[in-house]
Amino acid sequence: MGVHTYRPAEGHGLAHNPFNAIVGPRPIGWIGTLAADGRRNLAPYSFFNAFNYTPPLVGFSSTAWKHTARNCADTGEFTWNLVSRDLLVPMNETATLSDVDEFVRAGLTPEASEVIAAPRVGEARVTFECRVTQQIELTDVAGRPSGAVLTVGEVVMVHIDDDLLVDGIFDTVRAEPLLRGGGPTAYFGIADGSRLDLARPRD
Ligand SMILES: Cc1cc2nc3c(=O)[nH]c(=O)nc-3n(C[C@H](O)[C@H](O)[C@H](O)COP(=O)(O)O)c2cc1C
Repeated sequence: MGVHTYRPAEGHGLAHNPFNAIVGPRPIGWIGTLAADGRRNLAPYSFFNAFNYTPPLVGFSSTAWKHTARNCADTGEFTWNLVSRDLLVPMNETATLSDVDEFVRAGLTPEASEVIAAPRVGEARVTFECRVTQQIELTDVAGRPSGAVLTVGEVVMVHIDDDLLVDGIFDTVRAEPLLRGGGPTAYFGIADGSRLDLARPRD
């Protein structure tokens, strides 16, 4: 048994880059924004996660200043929308760099937010309304710009479909979140059978 080792800067030497398959599966940030001129935009970002409880912070990283990051800089707002299994195909349809309104292209319902102007996905069973707290242009270890930008926002309003709340507890399995694996096509789901429970050690 050997170990495959590589320095990423010199290439991985494999059929596919394993990086995002290893750091996976990842939740998807399905991000709704408005452009400065009011045009709607929706796009998926799997370099996405939650980063803090209080205030609740979520963030996503864009490999370049695409529409979503630009709109966040211009308006200071975005929505996060849960991609459940049934939304796989429309979510994929929103991964377009063109100037179209991805809500229309994917046949999705733009729903008004309560405290921000950016639109939510009407079909999503959980949505967050977020205000941008930071945008950080990411660098390599030598401080050279990578072109990527990390956008972090505070969740200022949460909408949860009642069916996903069982005795006051959010039922993650029922929500059927779609998770992104590696390679060009892989997605994963979750199931009760793969659940483990363990309390944290007491200090
Ligand atoms: C499931 C999925 C995850 C993606 N994750 C990212 C990501 O983390 N970062 C990124 O820059 N692009 C990601 N993309 C590609 C963007 O969605 C795509 O470039 C999109 O056109 C950007 O749209 P925008 O210019 O409207 O923001 C992903 C695409 C898919 C289908």
